[in-house]
Amino acid sequence: MAGSALGLRLLLLVALCGAAAALWPWPHYVRASPQRYRLRPAAFAFRHHSGSAVQPGCDVLDAAFTRYRRLLFGAGPWPPPSTLRQNHLSKDVLAVSVVNEGCNEFPTLESLENYTLTINDNQCLLAADTIWGALRGLETFSQLVWTSAEGTFFINKTTIRDFPRFPHRGLLLDTSRHYLPLSSILDTLDVMSYNKLNVFHWHVVDDPSFPYDSITFPELSRKGSYNPVTHIYTAQDVKEVIEYARLRGIRVLAEFDSPGHTLSWGPGIPELLTPCYSGSQPSGEFGPVNPILNSTYEFMSSFFLEISSVFPDFYLHLGGDEVDFTCWRSNPSISVFMKKKGFDDFRQLESFYIQKLLDIVSAYNKGYVVWQEVFDNKVKVRPDTVIQVWRDKKPVTYMEEVALVTKAGFRALLSAPWYLNHIAYGPDWKDMYKVEPLDFQGTPEEKALVIGGEACMWGEWVDSTNLVPRLWPRGGVVAERLWSSNLTTNLDFAETRLTHFRCELLRRGVQAEPITVGYCEQEFEET
Ligand SMILES: *[C@@H]1O[C@H](CO)[C@@H](O)[C@H](O)[C@H]1NC(C)=O
Ligand SMILES: *[C@@H]1O[C@H](CO)[C@@H](O)[C@H](O)[C@H]1NC(C)=O
Ligand SMILES: *[C@@H]1O[C@H](CO)[C@@H](O)[C@H](O)[C@H]1NC(C)=O
Ligand SMILES: *[C@@H]1O[C@H](CO)[C@@H](O)[C@H](O)[C@H]1NC(C)=O
Repeated sequence: MAGSALGLRLLLLVALCGAAAALWPWPHYVRASPQRYRLRPAAFAFRHHSGSAVQPGCDVLDAAFTRYRRLLFGAGPWPPPSTLRQNHLSKDVLAVSVVNEGCNEFPTLESLENYTLTINDNQCLLAADTIWGALRGLETFSQLVWTSAEGTFFINKTTIRDFPRFPHRGLLLDTSRHYLPLSSILDTLDVMSYNKLNVFHWHVVDDPSFPYDSITFPELSRKGSYNPVTHIYTAQDVKEVIEYARLRGIRVLAEFDSPGHTLSWGPGIPELLTPCYSGSQPSGEFGPVNPILNSTYEFMSSFFLEISSVFPDFYLHLGGDEVDFTCWRSNPSISVFMKKKGFDDFRQLESFYIQKLLDIVSAYNKGYVVWQEVFDNKVKVRPDTVIQVWRDKKPVTYMEEVALVTKAGFRALLSAPWYLNHIAYGPDWKDMYKVEPLDFQGTPEEKALVIGGEACMWGEWVDSTNLVPRLWPRGGVVAERLWSSNLTTNLDFAETRLTHFRCELLRRGVQAEPITVGYCEQEFEET
């Protein structure tokens, strides 16, 4: 079984060394042949198949047809099709057939993304259950098209049956340590779609700044952002991100981390943060959210009511990582409260806060994702909570943590080995590629609780100047691990395709960094 899969891979590797496209991420089933069909840019069109449940007027597909036409052939002009005869060796239409009519919806964790592509003498067909699957298939189609030295477009006879291995394939951007302009976020969503990533985890606020412009609490960004005019995301910006993502089949998972990582909330909301003490006097510094005041929960109720309606995804990320207990320990009112509650450990106080927060968010019919500390500190959470594993070796390795989380019956997301902000000299993508998310002792049921993972780009040393080359193509490595089969692990095969895909990213105007010594036919040029 494993032997024959390896044989297949080697065979494909040989086939891919030619001029033809190298796919990224690698599909689950591919059969390619050297027979080729010509594509004539002026004549070519994406069309809805007459039997499709989705017809013109579906914004997601109509917009995707326009995008992919342009990605494939540029803006023109092209030689008129009449000068090139149509024959059985050219394809003028990719027919797209979708089973479910849903079009004005948002992608969800449960959305089906599988598709089949059939290109042969009789057919040029993309079939999918949903428009989201059709988007994935359009991307694959675009990667199959290649150009001869004379500039003629071709696609080979090919059959592909494909589906994601994991339903949650995310990328985290941090817009608090450094503000990222809206255009950086939108450009990232484009490249995510080229990689079939489907969750944008927006770590929007943190200690250094609060760029989210709240409708209910405008003081938050007025006082907590780096600049309340230029360094914020207005309600309109947020809408634009959500819609841009939807059109690419990407969910937006918004994170408002608390009770730690909240210093920037303090100026806008007096009394929200715990005053720290030095001896018997307040030191003037502030710590995590103050968990002992009713006003804290009143604020959180109003704030998350807004967040729940602004972000349509079922899931919100509530953070819960790295709560520093020093300030709570210094505050005499907190000690009194702890005594009254019978708490002897600050983790109990943290749990008290998080449980109240989770109840608030549950009441708004939202699900939630939290960082692993919430699980480690034994906070009582709903059984459908998703736990994101990010720590390594503290207190256990990340794979051991995934085992513990799933053994307890919770769903898990893996990001510990995929911190793109950590860089090293040389091909550091290989270690990220070698990760096997299910490489832990567990039953099949426990393994099924791993719903995917996320590449993370924390922002301490990253802003719009270096974001793109640090993200790509390394983020694509995580994308393939989460999309492709667990048998797609050969590093040489990956390197060949990733090198090629990176050149394709340059052609598409993405400033992706090199992963090997060499060159691209079309190098990056500032546009
Ligand atoms: C596609 O066809 C060309 C020319 O016929 C051939 O050189 C190439 O190897 C083919 N690619 C694949 C993946 O089969
Ligand atoms: C997609 O997957 C579903 C469920 O596994 C299957 O029923 C369907 O036939 C697949 N559709 C395509 C187009 O491959
Ligand atoms: C906070 O609310 C609880 C429950 O509603 C109430 O018993 C308590 O007196 C309130 N505390 C303050 C300080 O208002
Ligand atoms: C790949 O996954 C299948 C089940 O989906 C499993 O039986 C097999 O052992 C896995 N192989 C590797 C190399 O992890």
